Formats: sequence, structure tokens, C-alpha cells
Amino acid sequence: MTRVFSGIQPTGEMHLGNYVGAVRRWVDDQERAEAIYCVVDLHAMTVPYDPSVFRSETQRLAMLLLAAGLDPQRCIVFVQSHVPLVTELTWILNGIATVGELRRMTQFKDKSHGQESVSAGLFDYPVLMAADILLYDTDEVPVGDDQTQHVELARDIAIRFNHRFGDTLVVPRATIPPVGARVKDLQRPEAKMSKSIDSPQGTILVLDSPAAITKKVRSAVTDSGSEVRFDPDEKPGVSNLLALYASATGTGVAQAEGEFAGAQYGTFKAAVAEALVEYLRPVRERYEELAADPGEVARILAGGAAKAEAIATVTMERVRSSTGLLLPE
Ligand code: TYM
Repeated sequence: MTRVFSGIQPTGEMHLGNYVGAVRRWVDDQERAEAIYCVVDLHAMTVPYDPSVFRSETQRLAMLLLAAGLDPQRCIVFVQSHVPLVTELTWILNGIATVGELRRMTQFKDKSHGQESVSAGLFDYPVLMAADILLYDTDEVPVGDDQTQHVELARDIAIRFNHRFGDTLVVPRATIPPVGARVKDLQRPEAKMSKSIDSPQGTILVLDSPAAITKKVRSAVTDSGSEVRFDPDEKPGVSNLLALYASATGTGVAQAEGEFAGAQYGTFKAAVAEALVEYLRPVRERYEELAADPGEVARILAGGAAKAEAIATVTMERVRSSTGLLLPE
């Protein structure tokens, strides 16, 4: 059976880009694959963060993943740091990855740009991500467009590792959605929707109220002209809304375009807002139920970590053996 693995960082709120680009597909993938999903708290520690809320943010994000539809009967949901073997594999893979290829990572360039001090962890971030993926014998990694370079690196590292030490690691590949792989900020459609950009009006959060979603869509930047047409270069704002509509209603972009041929921007935006409200409504409702019972979430995470660790232990036995580490008696 295909093994699927993916992760999401716990700092900041889950936004529509995360949901459309990744998490919504995680829910689908649990039906057809052996799926493992992870709240990557160790990755979030590579930039300055607030330790007084870190724990609750981690718990909250796990709750949101369950609210989004991850079912602990059908997949494994756990917190990255609960299976510390990933840090051992990271260290071993540090001997395989090169400084040159890490320097080429666009996320590192973006996040370190203009910073006075950059942590070694931020530089090494893609190796920890490769360890996540490779530790769980992953075939497919469902991610948004911005993470495909990191998955490619994990793939290169696995191939190089196997070449050097013999066939040990499964070689993974990224899967991206047909629409919504790069959801744009509603106020700045040239930039991706993100947790770090300070653009609250341009970012729809998965837990936003219907009124907030409607307001943000209504004030979304559209383009000059009045035609609702999919043309990301000429009409990035409208195209982003069309892609969101297509994702939310499960149609294709061409079909969505046809539906709004001749429509005014106002009518179009009202339909997009309504579709997004309905798309996110079940998540918000389930979240409220789960929030009433945090003990249940903790139990689910403990069960997930135990299952994840069992898989990781077998991989690490192979890795220690093929790399020639002296095994303890
Ligand atoms: P993170 O936490 O930034 O984002 C989680 C997922 O959401 C996707 N995403 C988007 N998709 C479409 N449009 C957007 N605007 C948008 N913004 C975010 C991301 O591509 C991602 O799939 N390094 C990863 C976390 C990670 C991971 C892993 C992922 C750690 N280990 C192993 C896969 C496998 C990250 O920071 O994602």
C-alpha cells in the first residue's frame, strides 16, 4: 500500500492556503493510502517563537487537523518531537546533504533575507524535513507548491544515501493539487497566502467566522477590467478567487470560469465567499466540539506517536546497520 506522509508547522493559525494546498488532500489520502501526518514542532523552533504559547499552539493545531477530518482510525496523527528518532536520522543525513544544495533552497533564501542573525537550524531545516519523510518509508508527500523543492531534496538525499550505503531508504515524491497549489494573498495576489506575511485582511483563516470570510473576499484585490477570466499573469486576483472557488466546490477552473462568464465582480465575489463559508463550516463546527474535550486530543496524539515510533524504529535499525554504526549489545 502507498505510504503518505506530510507535516505542518504549529506556529500561527492554519489558513486557507494550508487547507487547500495540503490538509484537505490529507483527508482524502487517508482513504486510499497508509497515511501519517505530523505537527512539526521542531521545525517551528528554527525561528524565534514564544515558548509560553508554543505548547498550546501545537495542541490547537493538532485539534484543527482532527477537525479538518483526519480520522485517527484511518491515519496516524502525531507531534514530531514525540518521536525523537527523527533527530538522530537528521544528524546522519547531515553527512549526506551538502551545504551547496541547502544554500540553494528558496525558502531559506526568503526567510534569511535581510535578517541580522540566522539560526543554523533554519539552514538545516530541509534536512530535518527529509528525515521526517524518510523515517516513515514515505512514497508520496502531499504539499503545496512552496514545499516541492524540499521534497525534491529529500528525494536526492535518499538516492545518494542508497548509493553510498546500499538500498535502505524509500525514495519519495511530492504530490501537489491540480488547483490551489499556491493560494495567493487576497490583498497582494502576487504573494502567496502565508502565516508570516502581516496581511490579516489578505489571509483567510480556517476558523474565520462566515462574516469575516465574506468581508475578506469582498475586499479582495481584483484586477483592472471587468471580466472573470482565469489568467494568473494578467489577472492574478481574479484567478486566485477562481481557483479558490474551484477547490471549494470541487469543480475545475475551466468550469468555474464558464459559470461566471459575463458576471460582475460583485456577483462573482459573493459566490466565492459563499462557497468558502460552506467549505470551511464543517471544520469550524467540529473544532468547537473537539475543543470541549482536550483530553481526547492528547490521547489521540499519544496513540499516534506510539504507532509512528514503531515504524521509525524499524527504519532506524536499517539505517544504523547499513551506515556501519556499532550497535549496542
Ligand atoms: P507549512 O506549515 O508552511 O505549510 C503546511 C502545508 O501548507 C502548504 N501551503 C500552501 N499551499 C498552497 N498555497 C499556500 N499559500 C500555502 N501555504 C502553505 C505547504 O506547502 C505545506 O504543504 N516544511 C513544511 C512542514 C513539513 C513537512 C515535513 C511537510 C515539515 N516536515 C515533511 C511535508 C513533509 C512547512 O513549513 O509547511
